[in-house]
Amino acid sequence: MAKNKPSNKPSKSGPSRTSASKGMETKSVETPTGNAPDIDIGISGGDRKKIAEGLARFLSDSFTLYLKTHNFHWNVTGSMFNTLHTMFEGQYNEQWMALDETAERMRALGFNAPGSYAEFIRLTSIPEEPGLSDTADWREMVRQLVVGNEAVARTARKVLKTADDAGDDPTVDLMTQRLQVHEKNAWMLRSLLQ
Ligand SMILES: [Fe+2]
Repeated sequence: MAKNKPSNKPSKSGPSRTSASKGMETKSVETPTGNAPDIDIGISGGDRKKIAEGLARFLSDSFTLYLKTHNFHWNVTGSMFNTLHTMFEGQYNEQWMALDETAERMRALGFNAPGSYAEFIRLTSIPEEPGLSDTADWREMVRQLVVGNEAVARTARKVLKTADDAGDDPTVDLMTQRLQVHEKNAWMLRSLLQ
């Protein structure tokens, strides 16, 4: 039967705990199980927490890159307008769908997903681009998106390793798909500058 679990209290890895990773604090919030059975999917609570923390950073990077790509779709100017306006639209639409997959994977692992600008800003490794000046060049936009896609890829690669070590194949699969997309985006964007 149930091991003396405190019914409504957060578990050991719950809300009051934080951990640092690469100097960036990730607060992982494990969803209280209430009257539901404990999660027992063959991955330890500690491993689920580590993976969820990685996914929180990945989600924050992904959201920040999504927003930047949409921003540039709106604000791009110049001789490359048509090409880039359309290219950025294809990228941000694809990225938008992946945000949902990532957040829902966190939920399946028993953790809450970050869903506020404050959390995304705290957790992301990608700088925002507030208020582009009217002199912003399309090349600078493309350069920032190359860097951003590569930052997302680096984070995905770390999460993939953590998930692989824990036998979490669904997260490995998701991160593999995201790596393919973001590395391809980076290649296509970089090609515009070569
Ligand atoms: Fe549009």
